[in-house]
Amino acid sequence: MYYILCFVFGALLIKGYSCTPAQPEQVVAFAGGNIILPCSLNIPADDDVPTVEWSKMVGLKSSVVFLYRDGCENFEMKDLDFEYRTSLIMRDVKSGNVSLRISGVKLSDNGTYRCLIIQKNGTKEETKVELVVAAVSDPRLSVVFANSSGVTLECAALCWMPAPLMTILDDEGNKLTDEEPKQEQDVTTRCYNTKQSVTLQEPTSRQ
Ligand SMILES: *[C@@H]1O[C@H](CO)[C@@H](O)[C@H](O)[C@H]1NC(C)=O
Ligand SMILES: *[C@@H]1O[C@H](CO)[C@@H](O)[C@H](O)[C@H]1NC(C)=O
Ligand SMILES: *[C@@H]1O[C@H](CO)[C@@H](O)[C@H](O)[C@H]1NC(C)=O
Ligand SMILES: *[C@@H]1O[C@H](CO)[C@@H](O)[C@H](O)[C@H]1NC(C)=O
Repeated sequence: MYYILCFVFGALLIKGYSCTPAQPEQVVAFAGGNIILPCSLNIPADDDVPTVEWSKMVGLKSSVVFLYRDGCENFEMKDLDFEYRTSLIMRDVKSGNVSLRISGVKLSDNGTYRCLIIQKNGTKEETKVELVVAAVSDPRLSVVFANSSGVTLECAALCWMPAPLMTILDDEGNKLTDEEPKQEQDVTTRCYNTKQSVTLQEPTSRQ
């Protein structure tokens, strides 16, 4: 019996927690899922829930993804890309937990977010959170060409983020090709499609 294995590795660089407060916390989400970006008040508020503005930092600019003011959500400045997708967890807000829930995470949500809390007396606090959005799928191995003297197999990993590493191995762990996989970035989804093929001569004679 002869096995061909198609290995796909994802490498997410997760920053370790460090003691310097300047380093924002990092949260990893998978595209299509839901995620909570953490944020809590350090200074206890009086009875009133303060204004909470969550925004996504884009270069030096920022766009509002959720604004809570005077006891309800304010939609005026909300980035349309986040319409219906962001909320606070209302049952936790009273205890000072103003974490943001994002549903249906998109690859384009990747980036740095700022949680700004403004209390009635003007006290401001801000925290930054980095959201890293990843996408994976099962790799597929298929026969793309075969005749009596050989067979060409292709390993395909569609829509990965970040771009994966790929190798095709035989059952003894030998690499079957030194060629680099073909990789292309999808213009609309921004994820990477990776393909690698290998041609085997007389595959049945190898053990
Ligand atoms: C605002 O109120 C908070 C909580 O009551 C208090 O800790 C803070 O010192 C106040 N800040 C100012 C500027 O009065
Ligand atoms: C805030 O609420 C979220 C959702 O309920 C929870 O996952 C998180 O642990 C809470 N954070 C704190 C500091 O309590
Ligand atoms: C995703 O966001 C992180 C943190 O802001 C950044 O380091 C990384 O380069 C971003 N990745 C992509 C593909 O935009
Ligand atoms: C099988 O296909 C390869 C590549 O196209 C070709 O070089 C070879 O001659 C073919 N062998 C047979 C027996 O048809």
